[in-house]
Amino acid sequence: MQEMTHNKSDLFGIGSMDIQGALFDLDGVLVDTAKYHYLAWKRLANAWGFDFTETDNERLKGVSRVRSLEILLEIGGVSMTDSQKEEAAALKNSWYVEYLTALDETALLPGSWEYLQRLREHGIRIALGSASKNAPLILDRLNITGFFDAVIDGNTVSKAKPDPEVFIKGAAALGLAPEHCVVFEDSLAGIEAAKRGGMKAVGVGRPELLPGADRYVASLTEML
Ligand code: G6P
Ligand code: MG
Repeated sequence: MQEMTHNKSDLFGIGSMDIQGALFDLDGVLVDTAKYHYLAWKRLANAWGFDFTETDNERLKGVSRVRSLEILLEIGGVSMTDSQKEEAAALKNSWYVEYLTALDETALLPGSWEYLQRLREHGIRIALGSASKNAPLILDRLNITGFFDAVIDGNTVSKAKPDPEVFIKGAAALGLAPEHCVVFEDSLAGIEAAKRGGMKAVGVGRPELLPGADRYVASLTEML
């Protein structure tokens, strides 16, 4: 008799037959927002009289807003009080949100929409696991909110990746055990968070930059 149900392991290619949930990082996995973060941080650096290069910006990927600011200050050799830091982070965010008004479906990274749709068609539960406090706004602008059964973001977690909190909460929100979930991540801290949380991990990016993942893809088109 012909098999009617799709073998779910084919959807992930990690040799695990019992994956029922997918947890996605946002920035760098589903959408290219790095350039907007970069523009906003650079504007701040320039206002303080130093430059901030795209290479420097690599250090901020996957890193929380506050920690990003601290790295920027380190680069510029600038020191400030906690309340000045708060003000600076708020200013950066206001510029970033302003840039996000230009965001639309064309900013989705290749394969994102098609893969999310395929997972849904196969009954896989889907959660977002992002450090960004702007995640709901971004999902909305990309028109992909409807794909997600749960959204865990910078507003709901207190411990930044590589702490596994964001993914543990994501799996729990899907009603799944961590070992039945796979995480898609483009940052080293995110891969570490997934492994510490007991999930499988797919690294989206260069293997040498993301040690510890169960599988690597250059983009989600390779998952199709
Ligand atoms: C993601 C990005 C980081 C960003 C962080 C917080 O992890 O990769 O570059 O700093 O989210 O984003 P937010 O939108 O809250 O400033
Ligand atoms: Mg990321």
